[in-house]
Amino acid sequence: MHSYKIALIKGDGIGPEIVEEAVKVLDAVSFKEGFELKYEEYLLGGAAIDATGDPAPKETLEGVKKADAVLFGAIGGHKWDNLPREKRPETGLLKLRKELEVFANLRPVTVYDELVNASTLKPSVIQGVDLIVVRELIGGIYFGQPKGNDGEKAFNTMVYTKPEIVRIAKVAFETAMKRNKRVCSVDKANVLDVSQLWRDTVEEVAKEYPDVSLSHMYVDNAAMQLVRDPKQFDVILTGNLFGDILSDEASMLSGSIGLLPSASLGEKYGLFEPIHGSAPDIAGQGIANPIATIASAAMMLRFSLHEESAALRIEQAIKQALHDGYRTQDLSAFDAKEVCSTSEMGSIIANYASK
Ligand code: IPM
Ligand code: MN
Repeated sequence: MHSYKIALIKGDGIGPEIVEEAVKVLDAVSFKEGFELKYEEYLLGGAAIDATGDPAPKETLEGVKKADAVLFGAIGGHKWDNLPREKRPETGLLKLRKELEVFANLRPVTVYDELVNASTLKPSVIQGVDLIVVRELIGGIYFGQPKGNDGEKAFNTMVYTKPEIVRIAKVAFETAMKRNKRVCSVDKANVLDVSQLWRDTVEEVAKEYPDVSLSHMYVDNAAMQLVRDPKQFDVILTGNLFGDILSDEASMLSGSIGLLPSASLGEKYGLFEPIHGSAPDIAGQGIANPIATIASAAMMLRFSLHEESAALRIEQAIKQALHDGYRTQDLSAFDAKEVCSTSEMGSIIANYASK
């Protein structure tokens, strides 16, 4: 029987609860599909600060590299909010992404038919939305040097090199080839030099993909178009900060940020995490929606383990659970037949996934 090693980083807040449900579902599908998953846990973020004083301990950064994939919950919380930036939980996550060189963050936005009423937008606007944000993850203003803050003046640098733009653009075009063959590259080329290089470089890469149609959009317009007519998008290609903002906005098309998964991919490693945060306000109450993490586990099976049929099983099971009216509290107002806890939702999906 084939066996894979999975590094688990549960993290803070609702992280442990939601990762536990993803493991439940993974165990159900791996049993069914005839492969084995072995888990090893690592600390990151607040939990790591409490245990070691470091948000990204060396044991974690080194240890996760021995795994076939990393499944991650969420990090952060008020407890660590006042620490200096180097010691904050978020810094731990950024270090992990950088260490694994996962430069491509794929954030698919699915609007489930069962939940068209859950969005704050009209059903006619969102029904049938199927888009994916391809966000550059280890460059741009998140990592640019120089940066500083002396209490009187503070600054960050938004920088991209041509090779960095080329490799993320290729991921977007490859992704589009498997979808509806449209890439919309989002930048601020009317103002920023870094965006002009981004735009010129994406144009060059596009020549290698004659079957894909490329458009460009300024980020302010893209933010508006996402709520005006989201169905116009197939693949949205953008940098680190713009992608962070636009993907939170896009999550609201689906009705709850608790639904959206992500895959962070590089040449060697894969890191899989829900796009939402650690939600400290609801941690420990058993009400968090585990679907984003369970769907991230499906992406892990697809992209890192190449277990496509197991991935499809999970995605189908999520649809079935929603179709049958099971809802966690965030979605309880929308055609719920039964409101369930985090762990009940995990069990229901695990059950459907092993049919
Ligand atoms: C995300 C998060 C992170 C980011 C934070 C927690 C560092 O918001 O994954 O979208 O900004 O990338
Ligand atoms: Mn974010």
